[in-house]
Amino acid sequence: MSTKNDKFGMLTSVVAMLLHHLIYSSTANINLTEAELHRLLDHWRIKNTQLGITGLLLYSEGHILQVLEGDADAVYSLYATIGGDPRHRSLTKLADGPVANRAFADWSMQMRTVDAADFTRIVLTSNSMPEHIGNLLPLLEAFMAEVPL
Ligand SMILES: Cc1cc2nc3c(=O)[nH]c(=O)nc-3n(C[C@H](O)[C@H](O)[C@H](O)COP(=O)(O)O)c2cc1C
Repeated sequence: MSTKNDKFGMLTSVVAMLLHHLIYSSTANINLTEAELHRLLDHWRIKNTQLGITGLLLYSEGHILQVLEGDADAVYSLYATIGGDPRHRSLTKLADGPVANRAFADWSMQMRTVDAADFTRIVLTSNSMPEHIGNLLPLLEAFMAEVPL
């Protein structure tokens, strides 16, 4: 016999299943400097809040890695927009799938500048272990916990 609590539990699970994350790397075009990204982020964060998107943007010497998390439709729609943005190129999807929780729930888009060695380590880890793509997020979380703001 199903109770009200069972139904609520099922509903909670279905909503959790719809939470999605997508991680990509790209190369910034010449005008998309670190300073320009900081300037643009003010506007993007307002949009992300409206869309229910949270995430992380890592920048390293012209290379970008971005984590988008939120409702699957919102994530895919924003990724399509970002993918068509002429300010960067060579987008490579590193992860794309459902997640139980947001890893960057407090951030409408956190940005960090990282050194080339750390950036390479993060991207190479994801490329060298495609069958373990889920490992990228714990790696990013551990990395973010390591480096003070
Ligand atoms: C590296 C990169 C990251 C971006 N991240 C976001 C983002 O998190 N949220 C967002 O709304 N737009 C982001 N954009 C901008 C979008 O591509 C697009 O220009 C913007 O959403 C359009 O907003 P507008 O129609 O209000 O001008 C990003 C662009 C680049 C190049």
